[in-house]
Amino acid sequence: AKTEAWSGRFAAPMDELLTDYQQCLDIDIRLASVDIAGSLAHAEMLASIGVLSGQDLADIQRGMAQIRQEIEERVFPWAKDREDVHMNIEHRLTQLIGDAGKRLHTARSRNDQVATDLRLYTRQELDALGDELKALVSVALDLARTHAATLMPGCTHLQIAQPVTFGHHLMAYVEMFLRDIQRVRQARERLNELPLGAAALAGTSFPIDRHFVAGRLGFAGVCQNSLDAVSDRDFVIDACSAGAQIMMHLSRLSEELVFWSNPLVGFIEIGDRFCTGSSIMPQKKNPDIPELARGKAGRVFGNLASALAVMKSQPLAYNKDNQESKQPLVDTLATVRSSVRVFSRLLPSLSVNQARMRAAASAGFSTATDLADYLVRRGLPFREAHEVVALTVRRCIESGKDLSQLTLEELRQFSPVIEADVFQSVTLEGSVLARNHVGGTAPAAVTSAIESARKRIEAA
Ligand code: ARG
Repeated sequence: AKTEAWSGRFAAPMDELLTDYQQCLDIDIRLASVDIAGSLAHAEMLASIGVLSGQDLADIQRGMAQIRQEIEERVFPWAKDREDVHMNIEHRLTQLIGDAGKRLHTARSRNDQVATDLRLYTRQELDALGDELKALVSVALDLARTHAATLMPGCTHLQIAQPVTFGHHLMAYVEMFLRDIQRVRQARERLNELPLGAAALAGTSFPIDRHFVAGRLGFAGVCQNSLDAVSDRDFVIDACSAGAQIMMHLSRLSEELVFWSNPLVGFIEIGDRFCTGSSIMPQKKNPDIPELARGKAGRVFGNLASALAVMKSQPLAYNKDNQESKQPLVDTLATVRSSVRVFSRLLPSLSVNQARMRAAASAGFSTATDLADYLVRRGLPFREAHEVVALTVRRCIESGKDLSQLTLEELRQFSPVIEADVFQSVTLEGSVLARNHVGGTAPAAVTSAIESARKRIEAA
């Protein structure tokens, strides 16, 4: 039978029900590599200040190398009754190297150890997520370039509003993803301070060198308050929050992909490799992947709420509640990363039906604003121009015609200032070409937006 690390103080072993209830090993296994890195940096520092001998350090390094290998080869003897990754590794180390393993925990507590591990893990995952986001942006830019001049209806209230280019529409998502990259980077910068040295909560009586450890582990500095260092999980909330916003953006895009691929709309078809069929209806091709991303967004939002709720009302300093914030963190980082990666593969699989998009853009009086703008250039106040065009549209609806089908004579019945050049303004091409300014939908503006975004991700 096993005895706990603290059994000296206790008259009875832990109730067997608690073995499972209080462990977090399923999640912690992924912290093994950062846990070992943290221990090695700590051991080196202890040796440098003479708390560990050179021999102890060498033994610890040798033991940890073997443990790494055992974990890689999946032969490491993980035991749930040793609660977490820290005690599993320390126990195995002591089995392998004896007393030096028992000395490693000098000037350290699991409280500053777990805080350090989680920051290292989160940092590594955020970096990988940042790279995935850059790849997604790059794929979206390629698609936007192909469709810089492809016309489609721009909507508000999901009603046809004004013509835009599909490239411009895609560039809206690029802007969102670029802000996501920034959020991920900012979360990383904020978390990059070393908790080790805080020990259980009050610091340690040993003459430790925290900057040495920080340097070894790539932290930009050290946490400035020991109570905060062991109990803070803001960085978990930051990561969950950045992840939630990324999923929110993917979910908006998903919703559009589902809508556009509905045969009634028919703007796009998602590649077969990213769709599923039906087990009963032979004709079906379903957009499961964007649907799933929408669903996963819900779970990731829940994770943010969980992480916040775990932290609220916790008195200083460390409380075991914190163990429960690992689940939302780990789930968020994994879910967001795989979702972003799937979208980088799915986007190039889209086939775009430009004719359907164009037809939809010309169907809904989408150049009515252009006609009003034309009248303004001819001297009408905008409100009057709006009224004139509204009447024209109403008449068109009654007679089942589109604006572009009206003759010059018919148009002039609504306003005598209209001349033959009106037809340049009310075509779809004329409408988008006219919006040639930073942030506008003209193909030339979209092309320069693409160039500028490319530079921004290269710099990111
Ligand atoms: N398993 C714990 C966690 O994940 C490690 C820290 C435990 N500290 C303690 N005093 N019980 O947070």
